[in-house]
This record gives sequence, structure tokens and C-alpha cells, in this order.
Amino acid sequence: MRQEPIKPAPASGRLGVLIVGMGSLSTALIAGVLAVRRNLGKPIGSLTQMGQLPGPSGQPDSVPFGEAVPLAGLADLAFGGWDVVSDDAYSAAKKARVLEDGLLALLKSELESIRPWRGIFDPRYLRRIEATHSRPPMGWLGSVEEVVKDIHRFREASGAERLVLLNCASTETYQELAPVHHELRSFEKGLREDDERISPAMIYTYAALKERIPVVNCTPSRGADIPALLEMSEELRVPVAGRDLKTGQTLLKTILAPGLKVRALGLAGWYSTNILGNRDGEVLDDPASLKSKQESKLSVLRGILQPSQYPDLYGDFVHQVRIDYYPPRKDNKEAWDNIDIFGWLGYPMQIKVNFLCRDSILAAPLALDLVLWTDLAQRSGLRGAQEWLSLYFKSPTVRNGQPVHDLFAQRQALDEAVQRIAGWARGNGKRGRHL
Ligand SMILES: NC(=O)c1ccc[n+]([C@@H]2O[C@H](COP(=O)([O-])OP(=O)(O)OC[C@H]3O[C@@H](n4cnc5c(N)ncnc54)[C@H](O)[C@@H]3O)[C@@H](O)[C@H]2O)c1
Repeated sequence: MRQEPIKPAPASGRLGVLIVGMGSLSTALIAGVLAVRRNLGKPIGSLTQMGQLPGPSGQPDSVPFGEAVPLAGLADLAFGGWDVVSDDAYSAAKKARVLEDGLLALLKSELESIRPWRGIFDPRYLRRIEATHSRPPMGWLGSVEEVVKDIHRFREASGAERLVLLNCASTETYQELAPVHHELRSFEKGLREDDERISPAMIYTYAALKERIPVVNCTPSRGADIPALLEMSEELRVPVAGRDLKTGQTLLKTILAPGLKVRALGLAGWYSTNILGNRDGEVLDDPASLKSKQESKLSVLRGILQPSQYPDLYGDFVHQVRIDYYPPRKDNKEAWDNIDIFGWLGYPMQIKVNFLCRDSILAAPLALDLVLWTDLAQRSGLRGAQEWLSLYFKSPTVRNGQPVHDLFAQRQALDEAVQRIAGWARGNGKRGRHL
């Protein structure tokens, strides 16, 4: 079978970024992009801005990603979005206390001009936030229509030629997949019947897909990963990526666990605990929202270590994850890991990791990359789950089968995908419009 060539359309014109949730992460993203544009800081942590790709065969040097493929420039980004609280991006960034006041003061007028539109709210999915700036309940179909109207207004006002939707809203309560999520037909019936198993995150996603806008889910909430919406993204040929950005503790876990595995060292247990004091932490203080986060954090070790294939090394390990809301810490999370490993003849050893990170500082460059990559994917005619973007997520959305969690395997998949879009690699000949 011949490999279909991929020829991305040029990145001409403005790229509008539709953001659900103007909180710590999204304001760190917006203010960060404005700061980089004005040379007030460097986009550290962003692969699209600072990273390089192994060059085409025969060429020893690596090449900046932006030279290999046509990416939208930071000057072409326009931001808009929804929240259920009315703070503009400046007030929200001040409250989030991620970036220093001095920097925010320099960006004040641009940030103040970004005022969120009224969000779609359902108290069943978010119990720790008082929604003072939401749309009145109007049924799910009415809510979809309102979101679509906002999108049209923003497209018009910003002059954006292309759009990407980024879900950065609070973590919704955990929900199991139900029949309404299985197929697009049942989901649309659920919309007409205001099914309670449909959540606001799914409404924003559905509205964006309907408009053929790529969707990135930075949160653990269910969205484009449910089979019905994945089916829609395939049918309408729209790229999607998610779920839950891989920052902090999980990032380190997916760096360390492959290291243990490549040296055939055993794992008896991995105990992780976190404290954080931002609004995300407050929402996660609700056990139902916490369960969504824990599910995405717990999935990574099994995926990397493959206990069924390595029963002597990884057959019985215990994995526990705790997250505690501790207000004095604000966005500066602290994570401790106690890792019980074993070596030659089963002799035990311990590794202790203490990571003092800044969650949104780690997350903002990932969100920027994902906007630029999914826009590239759309201009390249790619659709459905973008598995080559797994590097960025705790629970990568995949079409079928198991997600890859090993950070190094994920990076290789990203490099290979970009090389293929650049026209440097032939790939395996089986994947057509999927990477
Ligand atoms: N901050 C990070 O570094 C980071 C890292 C990985 C994942 N995440 C995930 O990203 C999401 C956002 O994180 P954050 O730290 O910015 O949280 P945050 O609490 O600071 O911001 C979330 C914002 O979403 C708004 N919101 C809630 N429900 C909404 C709705 N239905 N429609 C519109 N807006 C809504 C809230 O009012 C709030 O302003 C969370 O799900 C979090 O788990 C964040």
C-alpha cells in the first residue's frame, strides 16, 4: 500500500484560540504568549518554540520544528473564551498568582480586553465553584447553539481564519462511560433529551467539532475521548487531542519508570503524594472531581511497565496517589514520591523524589504547543485522535488499543509524525490520514 503524502496548507492569517476556563493555566498561557511577543521572556518548555527535530536522512544536524513544518506564529494568535466567573484575563491572572504582578502590569491593557463569555454550567459536574457568570439553563441543544454563536462572534471580531478550542476548565466530577457516550447517534439523542450523563465539557467539544474546530482537552474531564465524539471527529475530519496535561509528578513518573524498565529493575511500590493550593486544588478537594484526576494519574505506570509481560518485575507493584488541597501553597505544588524498587536476588532499595514545581508554568507551554500542533494537523488533513501528541498527556486519547505512556517512546512518535508532515519520512504505509 502506498503512503498518502501529507501536504500541510500554509499557516496564513490569524489563528483564534477559544479557551474554556480563564484560570491559572489559561492566563499563564495568554500572558506568556503576550510576554514572549514583547521580548519580556522566553517560551521555555515549548517544543514548537525551543525544540528541534532530527533532520532528514543524510543530514546530521537537527532542525527547529518551525523550520521543518509551517506552524502559526505567536504574533498571529488571538485569544477569547468562556468562564463561569466574570473576571477578565488580567484579574484572573492576578488572582491565580502564577505570574508576578510586575509582568502582569506591563500586559494589563491587553489582558483586560479579554473578557470571558458566559459559560455553560451544570452543578452536577462542578460542586466547588459558585457560577456567577453562566448561561441560564436552556437544555443541551440550546447550550450548543449558544456556544456556536459565541464562536461565530469571535471569528468575526478577531478576524481569525482558523480556530482551535482548548479546554482549560475545572476538573468535572468522575463519570463512567454509559451507552449515551458510545455512539454519535445515541449522544445526539441524549442531547435532545437533556441526558444527565452529558457534561459541559462534552457540550463545548460537540459545538466545536460541529464547526470543524480542532479540540484539545487539557483537563481530566471526559470530552473528545468518549467514543461518540471520537466518531464525530473522524466523520467531520477534525483532529482532537487529550486528556489532562502531563506536568509535575506524572511527568517525572514517565521519565523514571522507563529507566527502571530498560535496566530490568523491579518495582514493589510507588507512593505519590501532592499538596497544591490553587483553585484546581480546591475543585479536587471534592472526592468526585478527585477521582477523575486520580484515574488519569494511576493509568501511567501499568501502561509503561506492562505487568503481564514482566510478572517477576512488575506483577505485584502497589501504586497509590494522593492529592491534598493545602491553600498556602497556591500554584506552587509540592510532590513527594517514595519508590520501592528491587534488584539482584530481590534485594530492596528506595528512591525518594521531592519535586517543588509550578504547575501552570509547566502546563502553559504544553497548551501553546498543542494549539499549534492541532492547527498544523488540521491543515495537514489529519482527523480524529492525534496519538502522536500523547507526549503531552497523562491519559492520551487513542482511537483503539492501549495508549503509550513512556515519555521517550512518545517523543519518538511525535518526531516521526512531524518528519512525515515535513515530507521527510515514508512511515509504515498503513496509516493513511492518521499518524
Ligand atoms: N494548572 C496546571 O498546571 C494544570 C496541569 C495539568 C492539568 N490541568 C487541568 O487544567 C484544568 C484547569 O486548571 P487550572 O489550574 O487553570 O484551574 P483553575 O481553577 O485556575 O481554572 C479553571 C477555570 O475554569 C472555570 N470553569 C469551570 N467550569 C467551567 C465551565 N463549565 N465553563 C467555563 N469555565 C469554567 C473556572 O471558573 C476557572 O476560572 C483543570 O482541569 C486541571 O486539572 C492544569
